[in-house]
Amino acid sequence: MKNKINFEQTIQLNEQDLLKIIDRQKLPKHIAIIMDGNGRWALKRGLPRSVGHLAGAESLKGIVEICYELKIEVLTVYGFSTENWKRPQQEINYLMNLIIEYLNKEIGELCKKGVRVNSIGTLQELPQSVQDVIANSVERSRDNSGLVLNLALNYGGRLEITNAVRAIAEAVEVGCLKASQVDIQTITDHLYTAGLPDPDLLIRTAGEFRISNFLLWQLAYSEIWFTNVLWPDFRRQHLLSALVDYQQRERRFGGLQ
Ligand code: IPE
Ligand code: IPE
Ligand code: MG
Repeated sequence: MKNKINFEQTIQLNEQDLLKIIDRQKLPKHIAIIMDGNGRWALKRGLPRSVGHLAGAESLKGIVEICYELKIEVLTVYGFSTENWKRPQQEINYLMNLIIEYLNKEIGELCKKGVRVNSIGTLQELPQSVQDVIANSVERSRDNSGLVLNLALNYGGRLEITNAVRAIAEAVEVGCLKASQVDIQTITDHLYTAGLPDPDLLIRTAGEFRISNFLLWQLAYSEIWFTNVLWPDFRRQHLLSALVDYQQRERRFGGLQ
């Protein structure tokens, strides 16, 4: 891409034009998304928050589609954080049922497209029915070699790192590992994301400029892209705009150009 295009220009472009600009050789391997703004989307329409969550699940379908079409390796989506238990029980119940419905409805199509479902988070604390449907989706799609759809459910970065530290400490305690052998790779290997590349691009919708306990370790060198678009309004062309922007960034990883 020779001439830089700014975001204001990309939002004027339709999907076909954006697809022409994107360099297929320079796509991120791993895209992570904080899907935020479902509640505000509903509130703006005078609807209950649950309707926003339902519309958000529809948005996810379109984004998964474009990701496998572009042959992105991993898409990690933040569906429920370890802090979201603070919400009213009714909303939590709705979200749990939505996860079940989404997976039950989509798993057939996901498998057809070669998507492999994976999850990160403390799944044991989710209702058994949610755990079962996740396990079933993971099992049914385990041999697929296309996009990895990584669902962050009851996920929190601090808890993930805490659990990793505990497991490493236990290994040291029983003599399997020396404290002096613990390095960056040891910690990386004990996270839920072990084996997956770090996100190259993090997208957060709904105009919030924070990480909200998402992938604290893994986002060390991710490019971050914020948009005011609320998640239920987030479409394929928004993702493509983010990719155009991403491809114009200079990733230095602390070095020099
Ligand atoms: C994101 O939308 C979905 C979850 C956190 C589960 P929100 O529900 O946070 O929507 P806002 O931020 O209240 O608009
Ligand atoms: C982050 O959004 C969690 C998910 C999108 C699942 P929140 O809406 O929970 O984040 P805060 O509370 O605004 O930081
Ligand atoms: Mg929110």
